Amino acid sequence: MGSFSVLPPEARRLEGKVALITGSASGIGASIARLFSKHGAKVVIADMQDELGHSIGKELNPQSTTFVHCDVTKETDVKNAVNHAVSMYGKLDIMYNNAGIAGEAKFNILENTQADFEQGVKVNLVGVFLGIKHAARVMIPNRKGSIITTASAASIVVGGAPHAYASSKHAVHGLTKNTAVELGHFGIRVNCVSPYIVATPLAMKFFKMDDDEASHIYSNLKGEVLKPEDVAEAALFLASDDSKYVSGHILLIDGGFSIHNAGFCMFPQ
Ligand SMILES: NC(=O)c1ccc[n+]([C@@H]2O[C@H](COP(=O)([O-])OP(=O)(O)OC[C@H]3O[C@@H](n4cnc5c(N)ncnc54)[C@H](O)[C@@H]3O)[C@@H](O)[C@H]2O)c1
Repeated sequence: MGSFSVLPPEARRLEGKVALITGSASGIGASIARLFSKHGAKVVIADMQDELGHSIGKELNPQSTTFVHCDVTKETDVKNAVNHAVSMYGKLDIMYNNAGIAGEAKFNILENTQADFEQGVKVNLVGVFLGIKHAARVMIPNRKGSIITTASAASIVVGGAPHAYASSKHAVHGLTKNTAVELGHFGIRVNCVSPYIVATPLAMKFFKMDDDEASHIYSNLKGEVLKPEDVAEAALFLASDDSKYVSGHILLIDGGFSIHNAGFCMFPQ
């Protein structure tokens, strides 16, 4: 079972639940997979990076973890991943749409091709739509479920991300709220976590950061640097029954970054 450990039964907040997590071969998604497993969930790791996905699977409890190849931009892949979770473990309780791309750091709209823009929207928005749709397909008959998506602080604060990223992540907030209203009729909750910069492969590459720079990312909350594990803790809350009346919620994990306006601030900086 590798180095993996499960918490004692009384401490497990996802005992008996089945979770499918897209984009969980790396970064935030891998951290969520680890924490959900620790809390007793059966986890399906769905990603395009097969080798990494398999290795995360091996690190976790092999009795309750599987990997499935999935490109979230392809409806057949997403449908297959959801069906895989149901055929392996009998149901789907938690759908976590985490797969995302930053795209190239092109900030001048004239440099952005239609293909650049469409690719960002395809992965970050269409992929989420397909995840919610196919999760709803199997959750509606059970009259329950928790669907969560990783959006971003860029869903709220603009200027720090390419146009496709900012627009697709803004749209994910809208999709979360719209589907929360519809799926609430079937007892299904839909929520979203929106993190600030986390030093994952995506952010390190996009911001061209080395390890030292990654440990000194600006933080509104002094003395803390956001880690994938912090995002996983927020995801755990939304996945578990601890949040059983929370739906349509955008949980910002940004240490207060998005509510701070440097041009209108009386506090010493
Ligand atoms: N790292 C940050 O600073 C940050 C901040 C806010 C939000 N986010 C969001 O968090 C999520 C996870 O990103 P991360 O930072 O952990 O990056 P990451 O690159 O470490 O992980 C992203 C994972 O998604 C997978 N993926 C990419 N395209 C896919 C596709 N079409 N189908 C299936 N899987 C695909 C990748 O293979 C990878 O395993 C993304 O949605 C990202 O936009 C990241």
